[in-house]
Amino acid sequence: MSDLTVRAAEPGDVHSIAEIDKACFSAPWSEESFRVELEENTVAFYLVGEIDGEVAGYAGLWWVGDEGHITNVAVHPKYRGKHIATCILDCLIDYCENEGMRSFTLEVRPSNDKAIELYQKFAFVDVGRRPGYYEDNHEDAIIMWRVIDDSGMPVLDRVKLQEIMIQRGKE
Ligand SMILES: CC(C)(COP(=O)(O)OP(=O)(O)OC[C@H]1O[C@@H](n2cnc3c(N)ncnc32)[C@H](O)[C@@H]1OP(=O)(O)O)[C@@H](O)C(=O)NCCC(=O)NCCS
Repeated sequence: MSDLTVRAAEPGDVHSIAEIDKACFSAPWSEESFRVELEENTVAFYLVGEIDGEVAGYAGLWWVGDEGHITNVAVHPKYRGKHIATCILDCLIDYCENEGMRSFTLEVRPSNDKAIELYQKFAFVDVGRRPGYYEDNHEDAIIMWRVIDDSGMPVLDRVKLQEIMIQRGKE
């Protein structure tokens, strides 16, 4: 595979990102939604992975205090299985933790084994459910968190994580 470059998404990437979304999701975000994310949303931060000048995948989050609320991770079907999502997520987490972020959260469908495996590799832990979260088939969402402790190590114990969530007043 040609070299992958991971970089911050720019307004000129809106079309490519929206095309990836269309190829990946039953209810993709519109090009306008991504335009707002990249041009107007001051808490949004997106990275793209590029191969030979083509955007192959992206990941993004909303920066809420010291938490990152991951909005999406997607790789175009023709580029899957080449560790592109791994590289993009690795850069996203690394950059944000260096900037002081201490926890990340996301929702994922219980049927999305590939994504769950990917997130588990990054020490995301299943801490609960949002019943009927997905509008298309009313599937629940698994809520996952990656939290690092004071020594910078990810907390992997579900019960300990749930206690941290309760202390913070979250699920
Ligand atoms: C999930 C997704 C982003 C993974 O992208 P990718 O670039 O193919 O993933 P990677 O090659 O980096 O693989 C990372 C890990 O994911 C898991 N994974 C990826 N493809 C897999 C497959 N076909 N079967 C099982 N696990 C798989 C593995 O744990 C893999 O690590 P490994 O290769 O070291 O075993 C991609 O499948 C995708 O875009 N899916 C549609 C969009 C989506 O569901 N996004 C998540 C929304 S919550």
